[in-house]
Amino acid sequence: MAKAAKKTVKKTAKKPAKKVAKKAAEPDIRKGLVGVIADTTAVSKVMPETNSLTYRGYAVQDLAASCSFEEVAYLLLNGDLPNRKQLNAFKKKERSLRKLSSNHIAVISKFPKKAHPMDTIRTAVSYLGTTEVAWGGEPAEADMERAINMLSKIPTMIATDFRFRNGQRRIAPRTDLSMAENFFHMCFGKVPPKAVVKAFDVSLILYAEHSFNASTFTSRVITSTRSDIYSAVAGGIGALKGPLHGGANEAVMDMMKAIRTPARAEAWIRDAMANKKLIMGFGHRVYKQGDSRVPTMKSCLEDLTKWSGDTKWLDIYNILRDIFVNEKGIHPNLDFPSGPAYYLMGFPVNLYTPIFVMARITGWSAHVLEQNASNALIRPLSAYSGRAQRKVPAIAKRK
Ligand code: COA
Repeated sequence: MAKAAKKTVKKTAKKPAKKVAKKAAEPDIRKGLVGVIADTTAVSKVMPETNSLTYRGYAVQDLAASCSFEEVAYLLLNGDLPNRKQLNAFKKKERSLRKLSSNHIAVISKFPKKAHPMDTIRTAVSYLGTTEVAWGGEPAEADMERAINMLSKIPTMIATDFRFRNGQRRIAPRTDLSMAENFFHMCFGKVPPKAVVKAFDVSLILYAEHSFNASTFTSRVITSTRSDIYSAVAGGIGALKGPLHGGANEAVMDMMKAIRTPARAEAWIRDAMANKKLIMGFGHRVYKQGDSRVPTMKSCLEDLTKWSGDTKWLDIYNILRDIFVNEKGIHPNLDFPSGPAYYLMGFPVNLYTPIFVMARITGWSAHVLEQNASNALIRPLSAYSGRAQRKVPAIAKRK
């Protein structure tokens, strides 16, 4: 028995050594984690083969057609659509939490006026995280409370900062308005016609969740260390800011404003293609044949164009899309229609990605809850590409 055991040990001791040597020579590196399935999720499913996306099993375009953002927020956080009683209770709670403390308002009032609103919302969320000591892995109910508190307060933080940076007085939230209506009210002091509010609400639904995108994955990585939900959301906001991710909706509008008129659009895109420039609002890591959310948001952009009578942006949209899709086979993503849509709603360009935060707080929170419920520290390996090991020379011998 002892001999047999010795033999087995000898055999297995040799095998892994060979394997390790081979692996070290050819490490399987997936730069950008392209194609890597990092975990399971029950929150949403992205199906590039059919250009479709479901939240908790419901097609996103059906949710946009039949539900409010509040219903979708409940769905993402709880796993199912609310019945009337559950929705009323959820709405009542969300509305009751909209006000910021006087300290929080004072912090926001001190932000440098030149700071980007993504930096101020990241910091304002971080401030909320200092009002209690929280850790990951606490009972899910505690994180659910924090998630609803952030869902409710983030729009107030964004609007308060927006007013202050423009030298205006803040406008307190109202409890008789939906989340979408209240955001317009807090920014501009009035609520636009129903069609405009609906387009905004739809954009929030479409931006709410998208599986393991960069910001959600960031939030999950932070959660996996058993850090708190505020840190996870602050990290998510940092990742979302980048123009390859959420920041693209601002970059799209900056690009369209630089193009200026439909008459200049064709020459502009041909020049950009000739110079191999990155065209903002096109391309996607997962969808290669078109983004499932674009038709719904494009239809909102068309409604807003009719409502405003300003056809310029839709015309530029169509020219850029036709040429880029036909010649490069790269399709628009959600940021392409949402950029000009927010412009027509009257929001300044630097508020577009913060609006994305208002929506994505639901997806981030759902993923934080899911990660906490079945946690494993996220810690990949790296293949070392630096200098071979060497001796530390005495300081006099260093060049
Ligand atoms: N403009 C110009 N070329 C683009 C492009 C774009 N928007 N998106 C992709 N491409 C090109 C790449 O240059 C690359 O060409 P190559 O094979 O000749 O090098 C090819 O298409 C594959 O793209 P790649 O960058 O490898 O895809 P990815 O999955 O790594 O990147 C994005 C996806 C979203 C980062 C990328 O499409 C992009 O930067 N888009 C613009 C920013 C944007 O709209 N972001 C919002 C995403 S929802």
